[in-house]
Amino acid sequence: MNELLNKLVENNKNLTIDGKVAKYIPALGKADPNELGICVADIEGNIYTAGDYNKKFTIQSISKTISLMLAIIDNGIEYVFDRVGMEPTGDAFNSIIKLEIVSPSRPLNPMINAGAIAVSSMIKGNSTDEKFKRLLNFFRKISGNENLGINEEVYLSEKETGDRNRSMAYFMREAGIFTGNVDEILDVYFKQCSIEVDCIDIAKIGLFLANGGRLPSTREQIAGENIARIVKTFMVTCGMYNASGEFAINVGIPAKSGVGGGIMASVPHRMGIGAYGPALDDKGNSIGGCGILKDLSRNFNLSIF
Ligand code: DON
Repeated sequence: MNELLNKLVENNKNLTIDGKVAKYIPALGKADPNELGICVADIEGNIYTAGDYNKKFTIQSISKTISLMLAIIDNGIEYVFDRVGMEPTGDAFNSIIKLEIVSPSRPLNPMINAGAIAVSSMIKGNSTDEKFKRLLNFFRKISGNENLGINEEVYLSEKETGDRNRSMAYFMREAGIFTGNVDEILDVYFKQCSIEVDCIDIAKIGLFLANGGRLPSTREQIAGENIARIVKTFMVTCGMYNASGEFAINVGIPAKSGVGGGIMASVPHRMGIGAYGPALDDKGNSIGGCGILKDLSRNFNLSIF
């Protein structure tokens, strides 16, 4: 298996030439566009790796799947989906346009920035610090990595430049989607996006979802089976943004990408996959990561469709 993964990394390396690292968060612009890595964590407990699987990157939008789980655990399904929709947008992940067009105003789904900011506002805690600590502990638990923490430079860089997210948050507060201090809500969101991971961490999160919200090691049920099902469904319909349809056809695995270059994928009852390559396509998805996932899916017949 490791041999095959090495081959897939080599075969897809040339794709990275056509991608670009995200620059709208200045600190992300420092990433090396040639890096490419992969990890497969299967239900039997095996971990297979290749390429730059141990390079650290920020989790970015992959965090939206995890904050959604905690927000549902904290508030229940009805509360969350009264405020955030369940439909794909066909727009870019940071688009603001539908917030004004949809009536009553409500972000269309929790995988776009607006929806994820609304979801972060629902994490319970007596202070911003406590909310983020609860979220970080949840990340640590489901990844099995007690050492997860934030990349301070990326966090500050996004906080400094995140005016588009800030405008969406003000718009949503005005529309009554949440109340409270916008900067504090955004702080939880910016911090969750800045959590530093490697391919193994996100493969294990994918495996946790593949295992119906149970830790594969202890079988402890951390998130309900239904919550895991909801998250995996969003990964299919919205996880790769406005490339989700194409990805579903070419790869057929529930997956969530982030502009840090990560893709977390989850093959129900079988495995979690973590891919990393910071060179992105024009939709903000890792170009090499998508290539590897496509090949892996074909090799092992992983499509769920
Ligand atoms: O809010 C943002 O724009 C980033 N922190 C996360 C966006 C992201 O990862 C989109 N992914 N492809």
